[in-house]
Amino acid sequence: MNIVITGVSKGLGLYLCKILLEKSYNVFGISRSKTIELEDLMSMYPDSFKWLNYNLNNTDNIRQDIFKNWIGFDIPIHGLVNNAATAYDDIITNLDIDSLEQMFTVNVFASMILTKFAIRHMLLHNIKGSIVHISSISVHTGYKGLSMYAATKGALEAFSKNVAREWGEIGIRSNCLVAGFMETEMSSTLTNEQKNRIYNRTALKKSVEINSVAETIEFLISQKSNSITGQNINVDSGTI
Ligand SMILES: NC(=O)c1ccc[n+]([C@@H]2O[C@H](COP(=O)([O-])OP(=O)(O)OC[C@H]3O[C@@H](n4cnc5c(N)ncnc54)[C@H](OP(=O)(O)O)[C@@H]3O)[C@@H](O)[C@H]2O)c1
Repeated sequence: MNIVITGVSKGLGLYLCKILLEKSYNVFGISRSKTIELEDLMSMYPDSFKWLNYNLNNTDNIRQDIFKNWIGFDIPIHGLVNNAATAYDDIITNLDIDSLEQMFTVNVFASMILTKFAIRHMLLHNIKGSIVHISSISVHTGYKGLSMYAATKGALEAFSKNVAREWGEIGIRSNCLVAGFMETEMSSTLTNEQKNRIYNRTALKKSVEINSVAETIEFLISQKSNSITGQNINVDSGTI
């Protein structure tokens, strides 16, 4: 199965690539930078792991550069994971429109455009594919300073549910993985005190394990979940 994943240079995206490659998927990974960990993974799987240096802020060339020139219309796509995101966090009274627009471009608009072309690709090859968008528990709980970031993820959740309704009839699925707090670069600016406050709001009283998130994404893109669509699946240490 051929899976397109955005944001593969580090964090969840890199880990997800590792899990999928181990399970014999072919991965088409996108990010702006090539980290040492990404290079190592590429050299371990030279045939099944393809990487493209692409800045998703550039939404104009997604069809041409990603789907036409890189993947090619002859190769079927079975899954898309919209994982790349940036987190512009600040209180709303400090809103800077350029930063907000850039975040919406990567987190929302690029994800929508990738979904558009991935579905077209699936239709071309008659594939009942699966799309997974990575959302955040901040949409549902609220965190000081995350209103703008959470708004991008809320938009993705609404988009995912409606795409599921639009394409379900022909077997294409769309779900959101709603992740709780994971220890990655995105969350590295938080102090221990802030982290402990977040953990204390969860039933398991700890951060979310990246492995648990990645395995759930694999479940959602595989046929094991072929009756699940239009859902938000929480992997959040029990933020109840
Ligand atoms: N960490 C958490 O606690 C947490 C909680 C809930 C949800 N999430 C969500 O989980 C997903 C993964 O987050 P993470 O923690 O793994 O983040 P991360 O460590 O910051 O990684 C983000 C990835 O996105 C890529 N990316 C960012 N901007 C890009 C752009 N303009 N073009 C192409 N690629 C771009 C980055 O690659 P380059 O910089 O190399 O381009 C990187 O590979 C995100 O959707 C995030 O919102 C995270």
